[in-house]
Amino acid sequence: MKNITYVNDKFVNHDKAVVSVEDRGLLFSDSIYELISVFNGKIIDLKLHLNRLFKSLKKIRIKSNFSKNKIENIINKLMNQNSLKNGYIYIQVTRGTAERKHEFPINYKPTLIIFTKNLNINKKIYKKGIKVITMPDIRWMRRDIKSTSLLPNILAKQNAIEKGAYEALLVDNGHITEGSASNIWIIKDSNKIVTHPVNNKILNGITRQTLIKILKKNNFIVLEKSFNLIQAKNSKEAFLTSSTMAILPIIKIDNFSISNGKPGETTQKIMSLYNYYINQKENKKKNSSKELKIA
Ligand code: PDD
Repeated sequence: MKNITYVNDKFVNHDKAVVSVEDRGLLFSDSIYELISVFNGKIIDLKLHLNRLFKSLKKIRIKSNFSKNKIENIINKLMNQNSLKNGYIYIQVTRGTAERKHEFPINYKPTLIIFTKNLNINKKIYKKGIKVITMPDIRWMRRDIKSTSLLPNILAKQNAIEKGAYEALLVDNGHITEGSASNIWIIKDSNKIVTHPVNNKILNGITRQTLIKILKKNNFIVLEKSFNLIQAKNSKEAFLTSSTMAILPIIKIDNFSISNGKPGETTQKIMSLYNYYINQKENKKKNSSKELKIA
């Protein structure tokens, strides 16, 4: 199967795609990224991802020399060329290549990398649920930026894997912010669904944004409020969201079982609402007259 990648105005074979050793993304992590899911050949929430990409660029003051339309065109070409059905689209923008000096170069051309990957997710984990561990959140204070500076995140994730868990929940001042690569949600007794508010302490996930809309339309009570470790361990149910994994039920936090060690009923309902949303998106083009109930 073809694997074509876009890098700096060129479409090349993935293994021939290169950037300079003086690229600021490589030297300083002076770059941001997006990861967009593709299910059954459909791109999920592309507009929201592109909006966040341009917001991240603005926040780190990279002046882009491309438009959202240009990126959409590149994505469509890659999807066709690579026959992407299930997987993701990865976009990274760096402040370009320049002599290694910390300050911004006076003139620069941002590096734009876009590639696609096939992904076959093991469906068993959705039925079984996952274990998570907790770790101190040692990241910087601008976690709202989707920066490629991910050292604390990858160290946390590696620690989780080595402990037989799927994800590490990050704890800041006793409060859980998010996972190393996901947002976290807990369900309280009265079926209130709680997730961390949007501020500089978390990445405002696109799955998170879409799910909030879906939940509200379906009469769930969503509280965007921070919660502590004890509240998480005493929650009725808990789950993670991310573009790659959609919604993943949590059945254990450290040594505490959640919802008797099985994916909870409400979580399963929420998973099916999200799947319905994805499938509806798929049908939207085929049957545009059909009223969309969700989001
Ligand atoms: N990560 N928080 C962090 C720290 C993340 O890295 C991610 C996603 C999320 C969820 O965001 P979204 O719903 O937009 O995917 C929250 C991606 C998938 C990654 O880096 O692989």
